[in-house]
Amino acid sequence: MASKTTFPTHPPRERVFLVGVEIRSEPTELSLEDSLEELARLAETAGLEVVGVTSQRLEAANPVTYIGSGKVEELFSLVEETLADVVIFDNELNPRHQRELEKRLGLHVRVLDRTALILDIFAQHASTREGILQVELAQNEYRLPRLTRAWTHLERQTGGGGGSAGSVGGVGLRGPGETQLEVDRRLIRKRISILKEELEKVRAHRQRYRQQRKRSRIPLISLVGYTNAGKSTLLNHLTRSEVYVADQLFATLDPTTRRVELPGGYNALVTDTVGFIQKLPTQLVAAFQATLEEIAEADLLIHVVDITHPNAQAQAHSVAETLKEIHADHIPTIIALNKIDGLSDPSLAAEIVGEFPNAVAISALTGSGFDDLKEMIESELFENYTHLSVEIPYTEGQLISLFHEQGQVEYIEHTRKGVFLQGLIPGRLVARYNGFQASAPTEKLSDADLIDNPESDNDPEN
Ligand code: GTP
Repeated sequence: MASKTTFPTHPPRERVFLVGVEIRSEPTELSLEDSLEELARLAETAGLEVVGVTSQRLEAANPVTYIGSGKVEELFSLVEETLADVVIFDNELNPRHQRELEKRLGLHVRVLDRTALILDIFAQHASTREGILQVELAQNEYRLPRLTRAWTHLERQTGGGGGSAGSVGGVGLRGPGETQLEVDRRLIRKRISILKEELEKVRAHRQRYRQQRKRSRIPLISLVGYTNAGKSTLLNHLTRSEVYVADQLFATLDPTTRRVELPGGYNALVTDTVGFIQKLPTQLVAAFQATLEEIAEADLLIHVVDITHPNAQAQAHSVAETLKEIHADHIPTIIALNKIDGLSDPSLAAEIVGEFPNAVAISALTGSGFDDLKEMIESELFENYTHLSVEIPYTEGQLISLFHEQGQVEYIEHTRKGVFLQGLIPGRLVARYNGFQASAPTEKLSDADLIDNPESDNDPEN
């Protein structure tokens, strides 16, 4: 019998060399070493093989090559030695840095940055229509100023986001020349405008869905947290559903919503969100603004922190910063200190809980701490009342009736601007009254305003 030859089903992994630079005047959340370690995990998540790492501390970035010229030479030798195909910088490079570095390191080496890498991972993981469109738009906007004669960057142009592992940033193809370059630029611009139009349509649809959900009045909880903290695992176990869980960064890219039952018989919706990360590229924050905005509309946030991670505090801080950026820092938050099953000394959990406000220790994997967590959710959503004084314009009738329906009105007065209301309101609704807070009613409505027939004012007989 003729023997069969089997071919490997996976192409060889691309070999990457990582470079980290600490600019003294630009303080960062993580140390240079920790940030590089995170970059290495990102590279592995993208399906790449890390073959070496180097770093440099600088007062300021070199305007031409980002790193100093001596370091460029050293990098050249390191890349040759390790046969690296790609060099990835932990810092954001501008198109000029990238071009110059590629020139100096030799044309066979591609130079990319953290943004390109994260974009690539996002492209691999996006699965909903909106997620795919958002990533493709961000990728094209990233590529446009970076197109050079050497390659076309168009590999993923029509791919709809599901890029193949091991091909970073879709920069594998080499284009034939300058004319092609112009064609490529034109194609990318055209694609960008098509993607923007498509996104508009998807968003309009989602807006309608959001309004429907608001009307249903079931409170919405958003799980937020650093990538790999255990959000999807928590969502799965809390709601007994099957959401994709993987020990990878950014396994969850698109929001998933499930229903959770609380001990008092109440229900709430829980939604998983994209994992946060330090140095989240600005392009991505912009691209995912719409998804992130959904977090800002939640009634409650559960901030999941991987307590076993050596940088747990820094990660939690970085998530808190992103929440500020997207204007979600006013929403009531429970901190779920996750993975306590992984602590060498379980009694440490109680100690760490004391270090965070409104925190609970849990294991999303074993379910330990879930009863406490559910009780906290219930009390945040349905028992915690806050004192509020607001003046709501007459045009916001919905908010006025919401206060009457869900709160306890202690004082009411009609003013020229609207309705002044004072009373208690469930904590989860406080955010809806942002911008309407008032310590006292403005100009009172006079009796004349209240009387239908103004002429009667002048009638002494009246
Ligand atoms: P992103 O999609 O990157 O945002 O990640 P995520 O926060 O959704 O994390 P995910 O639930 O995918 O979990 C990441 C890894 O942590 C997986 O390997 C999980 O099995 C593991 N994990 C989650 N919760 C726990 C836990 O309580 N204990 C332990 N030991 N591992 C956990």
